[in-house]
Amino acid sequence: MPYASSAIPPGSVFIKGGRIIDPASGRDEVADLLIENGIISNVTSAPSGVPVVGAQGRIVSPGLIDMHVHLREPGGSQKETIASGTRAAAAGGFTSVLAMPNTTPVADGPNTIALMRQRAAETARVNVYVSGCITVGMKGEQLAPIGSLYKAGVVALTDDGHCVQNNELMRRALDYARMFDLLTLDHCQDYELSAGGVMHEGYWSTVLGLPGWPRIAEDMIVARNILLSELTGARVHVQHLSSKDSVRLVREAKARGVRISAEAMPHHLALTDAAIEGYDTRFKMNPPLREKIDQDALFAGLADGTIEILASDHAPHASYEKEVEFADAPFGIVGLETELGLFQKLLIDGGVLDWPTMLAKLTINPARLLGLDRGTLAPGAPGDVTIIDPALPWQVDSAKFDSLSRNTPFDGWELPGRATHTIVSGSVVWNLE
Ligand code: DOR
Repeated sequence: MPYASSAIPPGSVFIKGGRIIDPASGRDEVADLLIENGIISNVTSAPSGVPVVGAQGRIVSPGLIDMHVHLREPGGSQKETIASGTRAAAAGGFTSVLAMPNTTPVADGPNTIALMRQRAAETARVNVYVSGCITVGMKGEQLAPIGSLYKAGVVALTDDGHCVQNNELMRRALDYARMFDLLTLDHCQDYELSAGGVMHEGYWSTVLGLPGWPRIAEDMIVARNILLSELTGARVHVQHLSSKDSVRLVREAKARGVRISAEAMPHHLALTDAAIEGYDTRFKMNPPLREKIDQDALFAGLADGTIEILASDHAPHASYEKEVEFADAPFGIVGLETELGLFQKLLIDGGVLDWPTMLAKLTINPARLLGLDRGTLAPGAPGDVTIIDPALPWQVDSAKFDSLSRNTPFDGWELPGRATHTIVSGSVVWNLE
């Protein structure tokens, strides 16, 4: 079983009177839950001395898992560290994150993986899983040592932030990934078709005079990945789906039994390219914000199960890096501390999903894809729990973020609910009260 790194010792806690939703088992009832010495117990009374958390009117969910997070350590401590990024995760209700490998140096060998896991074991407030690069230096020219990365503990492969353009190299990467049944995550972007693009190609890029990054650049690589997954039998996961046609391609491939999966991010659901009207770099990310027709396709894909994962693409950047002209700013926004409230607003309050279906995309679905022993409240599972108050409106204030970075387009937004307690292995690592 893959190894999670965190600095949190196991604890015990009794959670009283909440609505327990465990999508893995279909359980949905008001009941009490005991975590004893870090493990979910089947005992439903409180042993003496165990702290009690009242959860009346709240949802008791398996600890949320975000499988797309940039922690920036090593090498990017002006943006984030494993300590600050996992504090932000805990504040957002997340008990596990998958760290992306586009650090400095990039995580393309066992030494960097060992360093990340060591730092997480010393400083992380939530479980940190690590991914390794597909190619050496993320340059897309030569395969990374996939067997050594696997032995070092990676749970997935990706060149996220970059995309392997060479189809033959990607084919070989998938052949290797399949040997270890490792999930390969792909940032789908054809570099020729998106060359120079800084926002979605369409009406707004024309009006604003900014170079466009058209949806076909995503679609082309999604189609490539579907074909290569079929050829090799390897599992491929499409990261940050943003294009309506990519949703259709994934839907059609799944219907044929292709081993493809996909994720959606809150910003692509909440915003369109019209938000860039004021050239505000907080609306710049990769892939870019697209159009209403794309948003509608993402909602439909979430509703019919084409998209089984919700995640943030938490991509911190320092203010001095973002406060430049739009074309020069780095791509990316922070997301860990706002995503749960945004998903509730857009998907639950928006009538797209019910709580069990939405929570599945944040718990058991990522756990299954990555092969983690988490994402469920079954007795014997690790005692990771998120308590959510769905009726606790709050206003986003980036000045209060635990993340070191403030690059959010959602400052000032009113969100309907949030995590009140984040519990890792029976220890409360975040408590709003
Ligand atoms: O917007 C993005 N930022 N997209 C990516 O794929 C990479 C990320 C980053 O690392 O900043």
